[in-house]
Amino acid sequence: NPAQPPKHFLTVDDLSAAELQSVLDLAAEYKRAVEDGEPHGELGDKTLAMLFEKPSTRTRVSFETGMTQLGGHAVFLGPEDTQLDRGEPVKDTARALSGYVDAIMARVFDHDDLAELAAYAEVPVVNGLTDDAHPCQTLADLLTIKELFGGFDDVTAAWVGDGNNVASSFAVGCAMVGIDLTVACPEGHGLADEVLEAAAEVGTPPTVTTDPATAVADADIVYTDVWVSMGEDDDKVDDFDGFTLSESLLDGTDAKVMHCLPAVRGQEITEETIESDRSVVWQQAENRMHAQKALLATLVG
Ligand code: CP
Ligand code: NVA
Repeated sequence: NPAQPPKHFLTVDDLSAAELQSVLDLAAEYKRAVEDGEPHGELGDKTLAMLFEKPSTRTRVSFETGMTQLGGHAVFLGPEDTQLDRGEPVKDTARALSGYVDAIMARVFDHDDLAELAAYAEVPVVNGLTDDAHPCQTLADLLTIKELFGGFDDVTAAWVGDGNNVASSFAVGCAMVGIDLTVACPEGHGLADEVLEAAAEVGTPPTVTTDPATAVADADIVYTDVWVSMGEDDDKVDDFDGFTLSESLLDGTDAKVMHCLPAVRGQEITEETIESDRSVVWQQAENRMHAQKALLATLVG
């Protein structure tokens, strides 16, 4: 056992409110450094293992590029690249990888597998998305909101759609920084009770409704994500009638629109709205890299 257990990032509230703010500050510094072409190779000689059970565009490329910019290295391990695929236990993988790398980022289906990885790893483990949570997305989302509004005070946000992994992490993140959030999901697709409890432990939990129009009425930010997440059946789509983010739903508001991507145009968001001036989705996507670099430097550096 290592002298000091590593600090993991499996859910947003694995960081304290103060640590979260300093990760966001460092992310802004790294973003400036990239824009100004300033070298910031603070993780020279460090290696990140990236384990993926599910596909990814943003998470993979932002972590890999982020490690390069920090002077380190990232090893991509896809679903068929490791002995996990042949049944090697997660706990054995965790201990073997810990002998080589300085941190492990993993995207897995079952959140319990990530927890097992973290329990046995001797290096920090970062959640690159599970069925339950997507905390790295929340870091990028909060950085984006901070850039847009200069902070979190008096910011009102709405989540419209599925109460999924992205929504769950966003709800806890909003509670931690004091964003006033309303979550509108169809009956049976709302946030899990454990998520509402986790949000209540770190701040004010979101207001919950099944009416998208009420949720967006006073919102500065309206956020959505796919109705069918990776690994889910698409027979749930019919339950989401009326939950599409569209110009008619947002009529009369000047709300910005967020989406973690990838998006299904015509389901949770219209082509018109995602391509409109309201949309900040590309800013969010870029901010994944800046936020994760700050997280890695905090956990590993
Ligand atoms: N938002 C997000 O995590 O995207 P990828 O699935 O492309 O990594
Ligand atoms: N909720 C989506 C997010 C993808 C980044 C999923 O889990 O598939």
